[in-house]
Amino acid sequence: MRTTLKIILPLIVSVASVSLFFAAYQVRTEKRNLRNDLLRRAEILGESLQESVEPLLEPPREKDLQHFIERFGQREHLKGVAVYNSAGVALAITAGLPAAFKVCPTAATHAAQEDAGVGEFLNAEQTASITEDSNGPIHIYALPLHRNSEIVGTQALFHDTSYIDRQVSGTLRDSLLTAFVQTVLITGFALILVQWTFTVPLTRTAKWLRAQRTGQPIAPSALSKGEILDEIHHEVTHLARDLSTARAAAEEEARLRDSNASLWTAERLHVSLRNKLQEKPLFVVSNREPYMHVFSEKDKSISVIVPASGVVTALEPVLRACNGTWIANGSGSADREAVDAHDRLRVPPDRPSYTLRRVWLSDEEDKGYYEGFSNEGLWPLCHIVHTRPVFRPEDWLQYQKINRRFADAVLQEMEGAESPILLAQDYHFALLPRMVKEARPDARVAIFWHIPWPNPEAFGICPWQCELVDGLLGADLIGFQIQSHCNNFLETVDRAVEALTEWDRFAVNRQGHVTRVRPYPVSVAFPENSHGVDQSPSPGAERAALCAEMSIEASLLGVGVDRVDYTKGILERFRGLERFFELNPAYLQRFTFVQIGAPSRTDIERYKNFLAKVSGEAERVNSRFQTSRWKPLVFLRKHHSHEEIARFFRAASFCMVTSLHDGMNLVSKEFVASREDERGTLILSTFTGAARELSDALLVNPYDVSQLADSIHRALEMSEEEQSARMQHMRHNVREHNIYRWAAHLLSDLTEIRIEIPEREETPQLS
Ligand code: G6P
Repeated sequence: MRTTLKIILPLIVSVASVSLFFAAYQVRTEKRNLRNDLLRRAEILGESLQESVEPLLEPPREKDLQHFIERFGQREHLKGVAVYNSAGVALAITAGLPAAFKVCPTAATHAAQEDAGVGEFLNAEQTASITEDSNGPIHIYALPLHRNSEIVGTQALFHDTSYIDRQVSGTLRDSLLTAFVQTVLITGFALILVQWTFTVPLTRTAKWLRAQRTGQPIAPSALSKGEILDEIHHEVTHLARDLSTARAAAEEEARLRDSNASLWTAERLHVSLRNKLQEKPLFVVSNREPYMHVFSEKDKSISVIVPASGVVTALEPVLRACNGTWIANGSGSADREAVDAHDRLRVPPDRPSYTLRRVWLSDEEDKGYYEGFSNEGLWPLCHIVHTRPVFRPEDWLQYQKINRRFADAVLQEMEGAESPILLAQDYHFALLPRMVKEARPDARVAIFWHIPWPNPEAFGICPWQCELVDGLLGADLIGFQIQSHCNNFLETVDRAVEALTEWDRFAVNRQGHVTRVRPYPVSVAFPENSHGVDQSPSPGAERAALCAEMSIEASLLGVGVDRVDYTKGILERFRGLERFFELNPAYLQRFTFVQIGAPSRTDIERYKNFLAKVSGEAERVNSRFQTSRWKPLVFLRKHHSHEEIARFFRAASFCMVTSLHDGMNLVSKEFVASREDERGTLILSTFTGAARELSDALLVNPYDVSQLADSIHRALEMSEEEQSARMQHMRHNVREHNIYRWAAHLLSDLTEIRIEIPEREETPQLS
């Protein structure tokens, strides 16, 4: 209240002062106008009287004079008229005038002296002192009277001016009233405005903050929205989230210490790496960047998106926890707008905690290195899904050139850093480890291969297998998703290059340099139970909301989330669904499967055709079963944010992952991590790396349509107890084997490797 008064009181004083000033000004102006008006009327009357009176003066015809002025004097506000001779004695005076005016008043004397009209206002007191009676205020207007150019007397008009005072005081009363009403209204509105805009929202914010601090949080949705406060709320929400995360982390740490458990958290990774890295900076290089700046098609404004990529999902939490520099291809349409002169920026945009260095590629380079060699060559080569790899010499040239460009960017970022650590990512950079290691032998270099490594016969069809293997062997450590990929790699090394393969300790010695080969199953950051209020609606409410948004009516949902890629088994999944509806017509108009499909690599013909094929197949299945209000399949072919996907995960009875071959598949782990309610079923292809860990999923062979249909039926019919038991096991697994553990193991193995820096050959000194 005191604050409100502080704002309101000055407002009252200023509004009242301004209103009073205007009231006074109005009254003064009114009085002046009325007086001027009276004076002008008196002058006109006086002149017309003068003309008629002058002929009656020489000799004075008093009777006629008296008669004339009596008639003349009957006008509005005119109190009376008097005519005086040159001695100042009244020759004629109208009946109503006080006797005191039988002697000529001062104004008349002055008029005679100045030979001009003279007006004089007398207030009530002055009139009373002259007439010795209360006659009210008057105005006297006197004019000299002439005969043959000589002044022979004067005439005076007496006006009653009490009407001016009455009118002016009426105006004064009205103005004061208006000023009062204005002050009350403006103050009232201001008071309401202050209450709405500041007092209520700030009180709510304070209450919310107090609740956060005392650990009984209430939903921030209770906070008021408004331009002024939005930014404060935005910042405070972040603070509150930090506070709640820190509290959760502290509690988790305490719990872990207490139970001697070995769970890896962001905090633990941070501390552990600080000890292990000992100030050695961490560098990550991948083709895909974690944040893309893109121009909106509508208004050319810039927004930030997180691309759909397993690499990004895995690495982003690690970089957040460890700081460091991430070097990646700047592929967003507005990426150049967001970097500094050194092509760097701090990310994540809402809480910068590490550096992103962007590397630029021309369209031609992208075509050869990314589309061509990486995605038309290596991708199908490593995923054995019966899509023939294409190896073009010109793509290979670009691949080498761009590996060199990224290696140079890495080396540039490493300049001045002692014993740096590099984590290279994936099949786009098979040549880079050797390039970096040759220039910086003191660096510890690891490469993690996110996709499968096939058997040596399959890999052997690549015309440049020796160069690729040799490039990889430049690293100190090569990580794969699972043991069998490590085995396949060592067998490939055996066949492709001259090296000593040490099977007993999974290492390769090539020309004196040792490379370790290990499995590190990649994972996701498992969100700990939020200590803030869970604002998400119940699965039922979420399902109803999503169905309304998709304009369908369904009481059960299933979901699939993939980049639209031929390795993901999306067509097989649709065929499985079709078979399921054929076998289980009771689910028609009850159950809908939602396929979220982020279009991917669409500049490659194979992918463009595949996207069209998936859309066509969805339409075909729909046309068999759909009704006006229901569809068996909804295909959402666009990129969805993590938050959007989380809604589908929450609402779905099951999530279906049917990759024909997949290094790991993080969608399956994200689904499990998101089901805090321990409900929902995972249908998972046995050909994913994830199937090794998530054995409580319904494991399927995606090529087996009947098995797919059967597993959909099992998922929809599964009892809550069974769902819960399976989900609990899977959640335990993902929680334990999270991305922090992945990074900790990989980086810990890397830092433990003893680096032998080859002696530089001495150049002979010239004498
Ligand atoms: C998937 C694979 C990753 C790969 C990424 C590339 O997520 O699991 O190993 O790096 O695709 O996707 P992109 O859209 O960058 O071609």
